[in-house]
Amino acid sequence: MKPKPMAIVEPSPATAVYDDWTFAGADTRQLTHCYHDYPARMIPQVAGRLLDRYGRRARLLFDPYCGTGTSLVEGMRRGISVLGTDLNPLARLISSAKITQAPLKELDQAIAQLDSLAEIPPADFAEPSSLRQLEFWFQPAVSARLAQLRDFIDTLTPQSVRQFFQVAFSETVRDCSNTRNEEFKLYRYDAERLGKFKPDVRATLKAKLLRNRKGLADFRTLLERRNTAFFAAVADFNTVAEIPEKWLVPGTVDIVVTSPPYGDSRTTVAYGQYSRLSAAWLGLDEPQRVDGRLMGGTTKRSPAVFPSATLNAALAQVQEVSAARALEVSAFYHDLLLSITNVARVVRPGGYACYVVGNRRVKGVVMPTDVAVADFFAAQGFRHVDTFHRQIPNKRMPLKNSPGNIAGETAATMSREYVVVMQK
Ligand SMILES: C[S@@+](CC[C@H](N)C(=O)[O-])C[C@H]1O[C@@H](n2cnc3c(N)ncnc32)[C@H](O)[C@@H]1O
Repeated sequence: MKPKPMAIVEPSPATAVYDDWTFAGADTRQLTHCYHDYPARMIPQVAGRLLDRYGRRARLLFDPYCGTGTSLVEGMRRGISVLGTDLNPLARLISSAKITQAPLKELDQAIAQLDSLAEIPPADFAEPSSLRQLEFWFQPAVSARLAQLRDFIDTLTPQSVRQFFQVAFSETVRDCSNTRNEEFKLYRYDAERLGKFKPDVRATLKAKLLRNRKGLADFRTLLERRNTAFFAAVADFNTVAEIPEKWLVPGTVDIVVTSPPYGDSRTTVAYGQYSRLSAAWLGLDEPQRVDGRLMGGTTKRSPAVFPSATLNAALAQVQEVSAARALEVSAFYHDLLLSITNVARVVRPGGYACYVVGNRRVKGVVMPTDVAVADFFAAQGFRHVDTFHRQIPNKRMPLKNSPGNIAGETAATMSREYVVVMQK
């Protein structure tokens, strides 16, 4: 009899590929995770597994790039106090709403009131002041209805109910705008599609409110059963600059679970651009300035040398092809290093830092962000516990760099990510 061929296990250059982190087919929209789409969201199962393995006795979790708050919700459901920070005001709104237990009775009353709003919204309304070209992005009837709903939401109390509505409203803005919904960047529908596009704004909002209400009710039930008092908050500080002691005292964080951006916003994910229409309608701060403030948003004059030989070698390769791109990419790692240095300080001895990262390709060179993160933490006295490889089954990510971003960089960038675990 012919022997069966042996299964081939792909060797890993870093460490182990012991277990499957793909979670293909898993329900990633349970609890308040159902609230709002966002680019490059972490899936709850990854945060959950990290907490179950490395945070079993954790009392405080920190996420320095919390986005929509995936790791915060996963921490809370395990009875851990959580703090997140993000520079994007829309991300802060979503993550705050996801960790806040808005009262269901008041929510239901407000949802019921939606049906009594006038059928024909007033044609005169206050336009979102930070949005130029309103008619380019919204049909007039859509704008009128959005304005009516926004004005209604502004009257809601308490704040947790208002915030809950604002999150559903934000997705409604996006879905009912003229922007192509399959993409995170803003691209207008073509004329043919626009001609047929007649969104029902109020029904869209209501459907999202009801979906989110179910997620919230499930989350509340889970937390009530657990019955532990803990702290949960979202802040707006930038760990690249500092971590204010009023938020976190050095040596107090048990576990960091986070996914930093894959690179600067201009050439990877434009979080500010994604958020612009919602932020304008909601009156959030400076939607147009967000991308410049995020990691790698400001290019430095000379490329830095990093405490990572692997990263320095990759940057040198990029430099050979394009000095300008090497500078831009180096600006991102410069910020990442400063941030990690500050984050390392707030972790307690024995505590963990878990970073989910992607290795993007620049000018044909794979940027070894997983190794850089491990080296940056090692420079702060952490030991490398493990790096897990994760195939990305369906994350909506720029798998290819958009040719519109950087000419000549169309190579596939990321179909897998790396879960780097370090211990202090
Ligand atoms: C990959 S996303 C995080 C997604 C998040 N884990 C989730 O599940 O929604 C990266 C986030 O980093 C934020 N960001 C980028 N630079 C930042 C900085 N210097 N400080 C804080 N947040 C930053 C972006 O606004 C974005 O929300």
